[in-house]
Order: sequence, then C-alpha cells, then structure tokens
Amino acid sequence: MNEVRRYVVVSGPPGSGKSTIAPVLAERLQLPLLAKDTIKEALLQTLGAPDMERSRDLGRAAIATMYALAHASPTGAVIENVFARSLAGHEVAQLQGAVVEVFCRCDRDTALARYRERAPARSAGHFDVARSATDVWNGENAEPIAGGWPVVEADTNGSIDPAQLVDRVASSLAEATAGGTDVDVIDVVPTDPRFDEVLELARSVLEQDRSLTAVVGDALESRVVGAFADGRCVGFLRFLVQTVGSEDGRPPLVVDESSLTEGYVEAFGVDPAVRLEGVGSALQAHAIAYCRGAGCYQMRSRSPVTSVENYALKLAAGYVAHPSETNDSYYFLLKL
Ligand SMILES: CC(C)(COP(=O)(O)OP(=O)(O)OC[C@H]1O[C@@H](n2cnc3c(N)ncnc32)[C@H](O)[C@@H]1OP(=O)(O)O)[C@@H](O)C(=O)NCCC(=O)NCCS
Repeated sequence: MNEVRRYVVVSGPPGSGKSTIAPVLAERLQLPLLAKDTIKEALLQTLGAPDMERSRDLGRAAIATMYALAHASPTGAVIENVFARSLAGHEVAQLQGAVVEVFCRCDRDTALARYRERAPARSAGHFDVARSATDVWNGENAEPIAGGWPVVEADTNGSIDPAQLVDRVASSLAEATAGGTDVDVIDVVPTDPRFDEVLELARSVLEQDRSLTAVVGDALESRVVGAFADGRCVGFLRFLVQTVGSEDGRPPLVVDESSLTEGYVEAFGVDPAVRLEGVGSALQAHAIAYCRGAGCYQMRSRSPVTSVENYALKLAAGYVAHPSETNDSYYFLLKL
C-alpha cells in the first residue's frame, strides 16, 4: 500500500484556541497548515467584503479552497476551521487517509470573552463585531464533528501543554495509519464499471449481492458504498435513508413539522483477507457522515447473533442493541 496521508482536523467554536494549537501541531507533525481564516483573509484583501452576506460568501469559498488544498496535498494536512457538524461530517470523510480530530473545548463564557476581545483587531470584512453570541457558539460547533474517526480533546480553558498534546495526536494518528485506512471509500452507482466488482465481493461474503440491488419501496434514498485498496474492491456497504417506522407501517415521529429519518444499513461486508484492518469501520464512518449530513436522527441495522464480528464492531462503536422478532437477530441503533 502507498504512504498513508495524515489529516489533523482542528475543530471548536470561535475563541476556543484553535489558531494557537494548529500551527504547533503542523510544525511538530511536519504537515502543511491549512487554516480557513488565513485563506479568507487573503480573499478579503483581494476582493473585499462590504457586507455580512459577502463576508459569508468568502467564508464558504475559503472552506472550499481549504478542502481542495487538503485533497491535493500528497502528505495530508492540519486543517483548521470552525467546522459546522452537519456539513463537516461528510466533507471530512472524503479525505483519503488517516484522520484525527483535535477538538478545542472550553467554556462558553471564556470563548465569547476571547472572541469579543480580539474582534476589533481583526479585518472589518470578517464582521466579527456584528455577530451574535449564537452565531459564535451553537450546536453546530460546540461539540466535535466525530464522524467515526478518533477525537482528541484539548481543554483550552487555560494554557495547554503542547508537547503532551502533540504526543496524543501523534499516537492517535499512528494507530489510525496502522489501522490500514489506506482505503478509498466511495459511493458507487450501478452504472459505474466498479459496481460489478462490488457486487461480486458481496456475493462472496455471505451472498449479500441481492441485498445490494433489491428495490426497497419505502426508502427515500439508497446508496452503495465500496472500499477499494490498491485498486481492488475490499468492502461494501449499502444503506437506505428512510422515515423511522415506515418499514413497519408505523406513522412517522414528527418533530418541528418534519418526520424523523434514519440511515438503515441493508448490507455490509469486508473481504476476509483484510478483516480487522479498519475497512469495516471506514465504511461505517462514511455512511454515518452521509446520514448525519442528510439530517438523519439515527443509524440502524440488523445483525444475526451468528455474526459475532458484526455485532462486536457495532458494540465497540457505541450502538445499543434490541432483539428483533426476525430470525436470531438484533437491531443495533446509534443516535447521530
Ligand atoms: C463485520 C465486518 C464487516 C467487520 O469488518 P472489519 O473490516 O474486519 O472491521 P474493523 O477492522 O473496522 O473492526 C472494527 C472493530 O470491530 C470489532 N471487531 C471486528 N471484528 C471482530 C472480531 N472478529 N472479533 C471481535 N471484535 C471484532 C473490533 O472492536 C474492531 O476494532 P479493533 O480492531 O480496534 O479492535 C466483517 O467481519 C465481515 O465482513 N463479516 C462478515 C459479514 C457480516 O457479518 N456482515 C453483516 C451483515 S449480515
């Protein structure tokens, strides 16, 4: 396998200390630093931003540029941003390599005080002084993205010990790298030439090829994901996005005028030759990130009690179990 790229995702709300930590990590881990604010600052200097709307547009352009550079970097990168969980789960999952998230956690009041203190010194085009407390600190940024990759938390209320943090991140990265995550996990549609390869592997792993193609009437969406290593298909996962309860003819659970939806894993398997190398986890992380981005409330799957490795993986990932009435199986549920 090729050299695995390493990505460190530095997340947290504004004022939580990301821009202090990120350069230290980049220097010690010898990775390029891609900070969204550095890119946005350059865009502001070149294009200007007379109003908040324009400033937000440039913010989006800066994030797209940050990801594009991260994808193009042959070694990986430290990427730093106020990540919005609902978008970032899917976007970070697209990075091909070992990913570790460093979440800067501090109290809301501390973050807001730091933010307000530095606001006047930043370029006017950021419109920092005009932003409300909810713009600064909210459910999208006050918790880690946590899309299935390891999360290292840094308590940034006071000063941190950089050497200790670098050690923790380096050992998490080494684990993620050794875990064989040098695997491309991609969506594969039936018209893609690689779909047959995915189907063939599904047939050989517990004859799951039918579960990859069967039409499920109630599903809102169906996606097949393939894992490829050295150009060969080594794993597959099919999931549906559906309304919770629809499979059993229950009326939907309605919250804020919307029906709750879930990601339901219909088929899942890994080539026996590469098991216990993290391929199954990478497939799950991809599906979880997609479903979180699509606004699903939960992930769900069913597994026979004979599939010990499958339920071991689910339990290790924090799923809860509930006996199913079908076969000798259990449902596994994870709140997103
Ligand atoms: C279930 C399956 C997809 C897991 O794939 P995988 O690539 O081996 O899984 P991972 O390497 O990502 O394992 C992740 C975690 O799951 C747990 N796990 C996986 N296989 C395990 C096993 N045989 N025994 C105990 N724990 C296991 C471990 O906690 C592991 O983490 P660790 O390696 O850090 O300890 C694979 O074993 C498989 O294809 N099984 C047969 C098909 C199947 O059961 N499909 C389910 C639908 S019916």
